[in-house]
Amino acid sequence: MSKDTLSITDNRTGVTYEIPVESGTIRAMDLRAIKTSEKDFGLMSYDPGYMNTASCKSRITFTDGDKGILRYRGYPIEQLASKSTFLEVAYLLYFGKLPSAEEAIRWDHGIRYHTMIHEGIKQFLNGFRYDAHPMGILVSTVAALATFYPESKKVFDAETRRIQFFRLVAKMPTLAAFAYRHRMGMPYIYPENTLSYAENFLNMTFHGSEPTALRPPDFEHDPVLARALDTLFVLHADHEQNCSTSSIRMVGSAQTDPYTAVSAAGAALYGPLHGGANEAVLRMLREVGSVEKVPAYVKQVKAGEKKLFGFGHRVYKSYDPRARIIKKCADQVFEVMGRNGLIDIATELERIALEDDYFIQRKLYPNVDFYSGLIYEAIGFPAEMFPVLFAIPRTPGWYSQWQEHLTDPEQKLARPRQIYLGEEARDVPAPELPELVK
Ligand code: CMC
Repeated sequence: MSKDTLSITDNRTGVTYEIPVESGTIRAMDLRAIKTSEKDFGLMSYDPGYMNTASCKSRITFTDGDKGILRYRGYPIEQLASKSTFLEVAYLLYFGKLPSAEEAIRWDHGIRYHTMIHEGIKQFLNGFRYDAHPMGILVSTVAALATFYPESKKVFDAETRRIQFFRLVAKMPTLAAFAYRHRMGMPYIYPENTLSYAENFLNMTFHGSEPTALRPPDFEHDPVLARALDTLFVLHADHEQNCSTSSIRMVGSAQTDPYTAVSAAGAALYGPLHGGANEAVLRMLREVGSVEKVPAYVKQVKAGEKKLFGFGHRVYKSYDPRARIIKKCADQVFEVMGRNGLIDIATELERIALEDDYFIQRKLYPNVDFYSGLIYEAIGFPAEMFPVLFAIPRTPGWYSQWQEHLTDPEQKLARPRQIYLGEEARDVPAPELPELVK
């Protein structure tokens, strides 16, 4: 007769323990009962990088890395990408259901209503160097929003949380576009609330006084670009317990306000192993330089001298489903904006890597970042904006996960343990006096 338990015999003591198994998981705290003596602290698990540790129970996003499946609230990403807008998906993540027609109108209106940012934020922007990285600006200014909305500290008040959700989703594109304009030395363009979410962001970023060369041609008249950006936003909206989401859950466990918590998530996203990878991909493709040089580059990767950015994933051990959709999106954008020459290098890198034993054995496939940068570049964004373009759509995912964590009665202040390998207790030596003083 099978039982949902695990029997563990501690060979140090010969004692056997029976531990419950729930959802394929044992509770780490159950290991504490396993002791060699009364004074023993009890057994812990050691898991650098949280490779095999579930930190929460969640009902938001499901991934199956072996099968290449991604679903938000049960809906397959392929269907959401083709049938839903980003704002509908943001609503879905937070409220747990797709909006009805009436709810969609109210939600959309609420977002448009909250897109303005306080003029005071512009003072912060002016303090940044002319060439400040826009992600540094975004992470700082989103944290600063907490000082404009001090009531956001009431994290256990559902209505307060709901209002901050509107504000954050609405203001992130404005902060992002202002960060871009600051770097380019251009005047800020205020939100134009007759436009859709993606159109408004494109408008605030590119519209107006800049040289024509920097502006995508008439995107207002070409819905393909706004639609492509919106699809990319859908694909980036959430991805369960990744590094930045785990960061917001951890910071949120201290009951920090959501703006500061989102800033912490953005800080995690910024790194080149996470959301900064799309920027790294573009630099890598430029470094490779031409299709002919791809085999030599792959050789360097296999020798451990280089990393193939945009390849590999902690969860996906098959093709990242988002990369498949992005590839299609790229073709649509190139039709409008002209072909990005780097796509040939990327395609050749993918072809060679997918046939090579090194990548096959390690199950390394293109991830979401491999092709997204090419689209962003074709639309007109510089590489520094790529992580910012990841942070905007990840905000509703972060926020929904933050709220889920906060309202989960099982959760506590996050505080991992360590294995201390440092010095034993020792006395501070008497100061050595210089010769003269002696
Ligand atoms: N290029 C070359 N080799 C790689 C790569 C890569 N991109 N990724 C993993 N490997 C090798 C790695 O060297 C190791 O080889 P070995 O067994 O010989 O030591 C093996 O594959 C396993 O790698 P790992 O580092 O243990 O795997 P991980 O799950 O810790 O790494 C990763 C996941 C995403 C950090 C890694 O694949 C990577 O650095 N990729 C490039 C950066 C990137 O594209 N990041 C975006 C991830 S998707 C979007 C997001 O999460 O933000």
